[in-house]
Amino acid sequence: SKGGSGKSGRSAFVVVANRLPVDRVDTPDGSTQWRRSPGGLVTALDPVMKANKGAWIGWAGSTEEAPEPFDEAGMHLVPVPLSAKEVEEYYEGFSNATLWPLYHDVIAPPVYRREWWEAYVKVNRRFAEAAAETADDGALVWVHDYQLQLVPEMLRALRPDLRIGYFLHIPLPPVELFARLPWRQQILRGLLGADLVGFQRPGAASNFLRLTRRLLGYQTQRDQTFLPDGRVVRARSFPISIDVAQLEEIARRPETQRRAEEIREEIGSPSKVLLGIDRLDYTKGIGERIHAFAELLTDGVVTPDEATFIQVATPSRERVEQYKLLRDEVELAVGRVNGTHGRIGRPAVTYLHSSHDREELAALYRAADVMVVTPLRDGMNLVAKEYIACRYDNTGALLLSEFAGAADEFRQAFLVNPYDVDGLKTTLVDALRLDPRNATRRMRSMRRHLVEHDVDRWASSFLSALTGELRT
Ligand code: ADP
Ligand code: G6P
Repeated sequence: SKGGSGKSGRSAFVVVANRLPVDRVDTPDGSTQWRRSPGGLVTALDPVMKANKGAWIGWAGSTEEAPEPFDEAGMHLVPVPLSAKEVEEYYEGFSNATLWPLYHDVIAPPVYRREWWEAYVKVNRRFAEAAAETADDGALVWVHDYQLQLVPEMLRALRPDLRIGYFLHIPLPPVELFARLPWRQQILRGLLGADLVGFQRPGAASNFLRLTRRLLGYQTQRDQTFLPDGRVVRARSFPISIDVAQLEEIARRPETQRRAEEIREEIGSPSKVLLGIDRLDYTKGIGERIHAFAELLTDGVVTPDEATFIQVATPSRERVEQYKLLRDEVELAVGRVNGTHGRIGRPAVTYLHSSHDREELAALYRAADVMVVTPLRDGMNLVAKEYIACRYDNTGALLLSEFAGAADEFRQAFLVNPYDVDGLKTTLVDALRLDPRNATRRMRSMRRHLVEHDVDRWASSFLSALTGELRT
């Protein structure tokens, strides 16, 4: 274990991420509850942190006064406060209306505002200061994701004794897109405060090296960037994963199987169930998959008795304009297809705008014949990995976008270009009509890879590269 805390009460292993693994929920009766935070970052880091007993610095998801640091499930949680204005400018603004769309291929137009940038700098400094106070002498600090790209440089200035790693959970765009960012040099310098910068895909690591050459004029060789002060920063890919054994254990429970059967009955026992599970985000291609399914029904290639779609979408970033527009688009599309192809008590698409616990998600994965994962761009996509983890009997089909990081690892999936409606339709039909032997062959090979590459392996390969045990 890397963790524990020293005599000073400070920690030898510190994670810094925008969100804590739990969100503070203030109930009407005045009591405070804690709920698991959304998204892939928490899904991946939670088991790693529980195993290492480190400290986790992050925002508690509310603008109420931040609680004092507390211990939970073997972790030391250090809440960082954000004011309502900072949530608007740093989180909803710069993080999610500037960086998120820019880094995801400008699927939505990024908005550039100087006040948002100033809030981003200010909040990054607050996280860096909290990390500097929490880290023990010579500690290992692991900074995460696009919300905190300035923290490595700021933290190094405060605490040159630390070893600092940084991991970007989302894609890093090529120089042609990144160069639009008015603060492009500051962001790169921020990241270069780390000793090791990790990405999901090899292409992102090479984008980073190219960016440091082109925009900062630094020399690079293989995975190394040489800084004017003599430091060397390495950039490599470390594809993230999930706690495979834990999710498979849930999937194997008899009550999960019963719930899966119940779900199928509740939607009218169709022959085949298609499933989408996502945060409600415009990068996920939710509209694209619903349109393709609707056209198959209209063409009569698929009938509503034959196949039903379940789409579960977690509410996400609801005050950001593009997310409001997306919600309207998706809900219009679902309403149309159900108005045309549904019957009383039998919608063609069952749509839920809600979040569910791991047990219910596992039952949904068990209930689905075809998992439909069609992001227009995605760093990794853990939902694809969760589906594979739950298919312990080697059944089911995974339809997967080429533009998700997961496509590097699962060549046996039904790979699609989600922008190609006809391609998406034929691939949906192929996946629906897949013969069992072919299904077993594909799923077995995907599971073999996944079981070998779980989240512990991801974390240990990053951390051993950071501590220098593994120099390749
Ligand atoms: P992102 O990080 O962009 O949200 P990922 O697919 O990598 O996308 O990770 C999403 C995580 O959020 C997964 O662990 C998934 O199980 C979880 N999740 C997605 N939708 C829901 C939902 N409706 N309810 C609960 N958890 C969800
Ligand atoms: C993605 C990002 C995470 C983020 C998560 C949920 O996984 O990479 O950094 O935490 O989405 O989004 P939210 O804005 O609710 O934190």
